[in-house]
Amino acid sequence: MLSNNNVISSTVATNGTTTANGHLIIPPNLKSTYKIASIPGDGIGPEVISATIDVLKALTKKLGTFELEFTDFDWGTERYLKTGRYTPQDYLQVLKEYDAILFGSVGSPSVPDHISLWGLRLAICQPLQQYANVRPTRILPGTKSPLANCQPGDLDWVIVRENSEGEYAGQGGRSHVGCEHEVATELSIFTRTGVRRIAQFAFSVAQNRPRKMLTYVTKSNAQRNGMVMWDEVVKEVAEDYPDVTVDHMLVDAMTVRMVLNPRSLDTILATNLHADILSDLAAALAGSIGIAPTANLDPTRKNPSMFEPIHGSAFDITGLGLANPVATFWTASEMLHWLGESEAAMSLMVAVENVCAAGIVTRDLGGQAGTKEVTDAVIQEILKIN
Ligand SMILES: NC(=O)c1ccc[n+]([C@@H]2O[C@H](COP(=O)([O-])OP(=O)(O)OC[C@H]3O[C@@H](n4cnc5c(N)ncnc54)[C@H](O)[C@@H]3O)[C@@H](O)[C@H]2O)c1
Repeated sequence: MLSNNNVISSTVATNGTTTANGHLIIPPNLKSTYKIASIPGDGIGPEVISATIDVLKALTKKLGTFELEFTDFDWGTERYLKTGRYTPQDYLQVLKEYDAILFGSVGSPSVPDHISLWGLRLAICQPLQQYANVRPTRILPGTKSPLANCQPGDLDWVIVRENSEGEYAGQGGRSHVGCEHEVATELSIFTRTGVRRIAQFAFSVAQNRPRKMLTYVTKSNAQRNGMVMWDEVVKEVAEDYPDVTVDHMLVDAMTVRMVLNPRSLDTILATNLHADILSDLAAALAGSIGIAPTANLDPTRKNPSMFEPIHGSAFDITGLGLANPVATFWTASEMLHWLGESEAAMSLMVAVENVCAAGIVTRDLGGQAGTKEVTDAVIQEILKIN
């Protein structure tokens, strides 16, 4: 393995539950070859996915312990504009044949965002029951938080986002469209089962992190039904994790705490919408949206899980070779952890961190490098693995 002086927060589970970032709930069977479905999608998605596949190929070649077999799917807006669908009809059956999914981004100026998001990303996450969305955030060596006095180590969080229901349940409708008296509803759905399973997952993550702290976030002062049920269910689940210190924040106050006292937070549990917003703030506080990864996990392992950067298609830099590939490298490391290849996962993260520490970073992090320079530098680091 490569070494550096930085603490890697992803630790290997020894107890068969989860690692610090939520991996290995059921220890998987290791394989000699893993089948990976690659969906580059739109905008900078193909650029960061292609860089990541190059890095993963270099890693598996160097380690020689397992292989990754990639199949590329052209599921994106170009396909939608030609065929009226982002995916073929049998896409879920197709995806179920794979060990994991590596996803770039979906979204294009030529299609409304709610069509593209529901046509591809949510059309995968929701039916495949990837109900746990895990978003590790920390300041990488060589990168800087925009917060004065916030050093690496002061901000080291895992945000656990409910990923199957809540505000993104898709229920609602519009009547009298275009009329002055038009009505539109967007219904949030919270089920006891859905809240309990994500709370159990988040407590398990918190339990496996050194500080064993969990902050859950709701808005149960103003939203007096679903959010109050969230609070009740989380408190019930907390009784099964007596070693985890729990506290509660209202979402508005949480933004203030993230900025003013990042050290006071560790594992954060929130609803689909709240965690979506908080994790973009978290990414910015850690240096850039260009480094932030996310894992859409089916913790039961009945379905493949999906790994992607948090960022979107980034129209303003598409095709310019400027996209930061670090978020996708990091999510690829999360994918390797999930597959049970933790040694490889950690080697990849060390290589990425060494490159960041050497100042080979893209413009969003204040550097001058392009996607290719960062990718080549990470491959060079991988070649140094003993
Ligand atoms: N998971 C997804 O597929 C996903 C997520 C978010 C947004 N989107 C879609 O992407 C499109 C654009 O959305 P947006 O502008 O709100 O968000 P965005 O993440 O695409 O871009 C926001 C800003 O961050 C910058 N940025 C993003 N990723 C970067 C990277 N890797 N390196 C350097 N800079 C980076 C962009 O240049 C832009 O200035 C929309 O169609 C949206 O629906 C998709």
